[in-house]
Amino acid sequence: MIKIVFVCLGNICRSPMAESVFTHLVNEKNLSQHFIIDSAATSNWESGNPIYPGTINVLKKHHIPIKETYSRQLNTADLDADYIITMDQNNYTNVMNFVKNKSIEINKLLHYTHSEKDIADPWYTQDFDTTYTEVYEGCHALLEYLIKKHELI
Ligand code: 4NP
Repeated sequence: MIKIVFVCLGNICRSPMAESVFTHLVNEKNLSQHFIIDSAATSNWESGNPIYPGTINVLKKHHIPIKETYSRQLNTADLDADYIITMDQNNYTNVMNFVKNKSIEINKLLHYTHSEKDIADPWYTQDFDTTYTEVYEGCHALLEYLIKKHELI
């Protein structure tokens, strides 16, 4: 099994969006048996809170099934992940400082689209459409990368 944890600041906007989109893409390819897919926050600011309505709405608009999740902070139980995928440079730096286990592949999501861009935080921008487009492109590219790397198809 390949364990992936998507990480952002609050775990109510971007990382749960990525968790639902990536899960949907995996299911479309009938590859769910290969993956454990989760998400977490670098902060504890939203711990226990549900997915933000703007994220729910944009996922519904694009007919992506929503995985009902509640914010939780990244913790030592996540150190068995194979991949920790962050949304921006701040998350990336925080995760790198937290994770001492160098066998976990840690990258920003858009790294897999050959970009080092951050995914803008819609909590601040309120632009859930742009965030969705970037999350979708990142998740699609990540899955293609993993299919090749792990010879899944
Ligand atoms: P996220 O967005 O990191 O994409 O989940 C945020 C959600 C909440 C807060 C910041 C960012 N907050 O300050 O509570």
